[in-house]
Parts: sequence; C-alpha cells; structure tokens
Amino acid sequence: MTAGATTFLLLDTDPGVDDAMALLFLHRHPAARLLGVTTVFGNAEVEVTTRNALYLCERFGIDAPVARGAALPLVGPSRGPAPQVHGDDGLGNLAETPAPTRAADPRPAHRFIVDMLRARPGAVTLLAVGPLTNLALALAEDPAITALVRRVVVMGGAFGIGGQGGNVSPVAEANVLCDPHAADAVFTAPWPVTIVGLDATHRVWMDDAAFARLRDGGGAEGAFLWQASRHYVGFHAGAEGRAGCYVHDASAAACALEPALFTLRRGPVRVVDQGLAIGQTIQRPAGRRYVHGQAWDGVPDQQVAVDVRADALLDLVVRTLAR
Ligand code: BDR
Ligand code: CA
Repeated sequence: MTAGATTFLLLDTDPGVDDAMALLFLHRHPAARLLGVTTVFGNAEVEVTTRNALYLCERFGIDAPVARGAALPLVGPSRGPAPQVHGDDGLGNLAETPAPTRAADPRPAHRFIVDMLRARPGAVTLLAVGPLTNLALALAEDPAITALVRRVVVMGGAFGIGGQGGNVSPVAEANVLCDPHAADAVFTAPWPVTIVGLDATHRVWMDDAAFARLRDGGGAEGAFLWQASRHYVGFHAGAEGRAGCYVHDASAAACALEPALFTLRRGPVRVVDQGLAIGQTIQRPAGRRYVHGQAWDGVPDQQVAVDVRADALLDLVVRTLAR
C-alpha cells in the first residue's frame, strides 16, 4: 500500500560504499520515505556497519532510527569482512569519520523489523542489501510478518542469466554466501520477494565520470560519496580494468521504487547451503515439475530480475544522487 506516491521503506544494510549510495538515493528520491535502518555484518563487522549507518544518517541528514543487527550468520562462523572491496572501515578508508553522536535503537534489528511491520500492516517495503540474517531472524520470531509486509526487495544472488556467475565464487554472490541458510529462509517464505542479483546489477556500470558528477553537483553528500568511492572504484579498476563500479545496492533500491525498470521472472528460488556450490541461487521455472524436483515442492514463486533498462536506471540513480 502506498500513501499517494509514497513508498515506506525499511533498509537492512551493511555499509559498505554502495550501501551508502543506496541510502542517499532513498533519502533523495521524492517517492521514498525511509522509516528505519537495520544493520548486519557483511562488508565489515556489525560494530563497524552500525557505526557507519549512524554516521551516514547523521551526515546525510536522515533522522530515521538505526537498529543494530546480526554479527554472525545463522549457521557457522562468518566468512569475514571485505576490506579489499570496501576498505577497513567499510567506507573506503576515509581519513576522517567523526564518531556519530546518535545512539542506535535499543532493539535488535530483527525485533525492530517485526515492530515496524506490525505498526503499519501492508504498508512497508523491506529492502535488504546485505546478508539476510536479520530478515530470517525476524521470520523465525514472528512468522506472521509474511502477511504484513508490502514487498521484500533483496540485492543478492546470481542466476546464470547470459552466463552470469558469482562475484565471490564461480556461482555465489557475496550477500547470499555470507548467510546462505538465511537467504534460503527468506526466499522460501510465503511473502512477495523480488531478487535483484548480479544478473541485473552487473549490467549497470557507473563510471568515474558519473562519480565526478556527484562530486561536483551532489552537494556535500555527493562530494562525500565521491571521496568514499575512491577505494571501491580502485578495486573495480583492478578487477575489471576500468574505473567505476557496479551499481548493486542502489539498483535494488531503484527496484523497490520503480520496478518497471526491470524484467522479472517468476518461480520458486532455493539457495545451496553446503558443498562446492554453497551460496548458489537457483530458480525453478514457475509451474514446472521435475522427477527430482522435490526440494521446490510447495515453495512459493518469487520474482527474479533477469534484465534491466540499465541506461534509464543509471540515469535515475545519478540524477537522484546529484540532485
Ligand atoms: C553486494 O555485496 C556487497 O559487497 C555490496 O554492498 C552488495 O550489497 C554485491 O555482491
Ligand atoms: Ca551491501
């Protein structure tokens, strides 16, 4: 449900440079109303991602509450942070990040999510751009939230469209591999999930000229993102041979607000939670039955992004961030 053109959102995030871009995108998009931010381990330890979320909200002038979430996946140890991608501080090794003056909400993230969904039944879109542990814990604590959420939009996974593989293993995307059990719980729950994986986000490349547009036209926040992106852009330059980055988390944010930018494919989704292919995401075609397809029996259809109007999305993201 929307009030007029407004989309009410909860952002579950592990900031993270591209998470910071998604946060500012939501703050500046005229149709978005951010009700809260929940944090999770992922790009950095949860102490760091929580500090970053508080810091970014303060820096961007966002007054939504921030609740700290999971430090570990549902099963087993953490696979560790990604300083090579997001820097030791999760924000590109910024020289100066003053301690946030705001404190986190006293509730753990999964309880905060349950409370927010219960407070506005049918109205809230849950946008998750990190490992899915908090969402899985919220489902375990209160399974009835599946009927209360408006929509769940996830950045994660890689479905092999056009040969698209993973970014942390040949088959696994980082957010899903960080907690494959949680991802499987979220994708198989009876609530409407839209999954924006690498099949879409690897088609949206933001070059350094676009970052320069943010620096020069996006006010103090745009200049901050330009500074924070130097390490991230450098990582991609090393890995891809071109300066820029894939627009992961802001693409999912755009999907939450403007889903028509994406081509979505329906069908149940499962996650491989052990072995060589751990973290792989697989969608069974909707309605298809297989002799050995029991793992999909009774699993609800979800929507997977199989294509994106990349130029229009990039234009939307850069225009919104630079406005
Ligand atoms: C995802 O992993 C993280 O590094 C990014 O923030 C994004 O959410 C991309 O695989
Ligand atoms: Ca992220």
